[in-house]
Amino acid sequence: MRYYLVAVTTNILSASLLACNLKTRLIGRNISYYPRLASTMDVAREKARQKAAEGTVILAGEQTGGRGRIKRPWISPPGSVSLSVILYPDPARLNYLVMMAALAVARSIEQVAGLETSLKWPNDVLIRGKKVCGILIESDLSGNAVSHAIIGIGINVNFSVARFPEIAGFATTLADELGREVPLNDLVGHLLADLDRLYRWPETEAIYREWRERLETLGKWVTVTSGRAVFQGTAESVTRDGSLLLRREDGTLAQVIAGDVNLRDSS
Ligand code: BTN
Repeated sequence: MRYYLVAVTTNILSASLLACNLKTRLIGRNISYYPRLASTMDVAREKARQKAAEGTVILAGEQTGGRGRIKRPWISPPGSVSLSVILYPDPARLNYLVMMAALAVARSIEQVAGLETSLKWPNDVLIRGKKVCGILIESDLSGNAVSHAIIGIGINVNFSVARFPEIAGFATTLADELGREVPLNDLVGHLLADLDRLYRWPETEAIYREWRERLETLGKWVTVTSGRAVFQGTAESVTRDGSLLLRREDGTLAQVIAGDVNLRDSS
């Protein structure tokens, strides 16, 4: 008699179920699942320093100290997707990691939940203008070489954003949008499969073009704060290294490098 492993609720992540169904070559061949931890980024960094296999995924059921860009806290209760992927990329591909991650998230939400998404520069995935996913890239460089890079992805899936007043004004979840829960294993499976394809794909130009086309930021009048500097202008384009090009009111062009940048629509 054969027994098949079935996830009984849509809200339970299962590393063994994921591993059974994943047909990736690199990303997700090793998955370490933690029901609860502080941050998948910390565990991933430790494993990367110990030279864990490329593509190793650290996946959490919930995070107690999740972090976002510019040291902001990242809320990740049960029902969210929190994962980090360990990579050892060629330095020339480092800037494309955020583009690959954003595309993989957007496409998997569209496929699994059937919801339309857009991208907000530099690293957010939105649904109807509200943030549903954040991406954090941390890398360790030694000279011109990349010792390791970690892609951190947090997706708001099966919880209600109304429980968290600190984000309720600008964020959303897939369950809030759909009025029902989304199977977490399916979502993570699609995400890792797409990320695997994009990471192994040599055509970075195509990745850059699709990312640029999906950016809802372009064409808008925006205010960008970068540390103490504030830039205002029309978001004209993005460069291949991920910088934003702003056309100021006086006609000059400002290039804002992806990094500690906060973007607010002011239109
Ligand atoms: C942001 O929008 O500022 C980026 C948020 C990144 C959150 C993810 S969740 C998985 C990984 N672990 C963390 O502590 N952060 C990233």
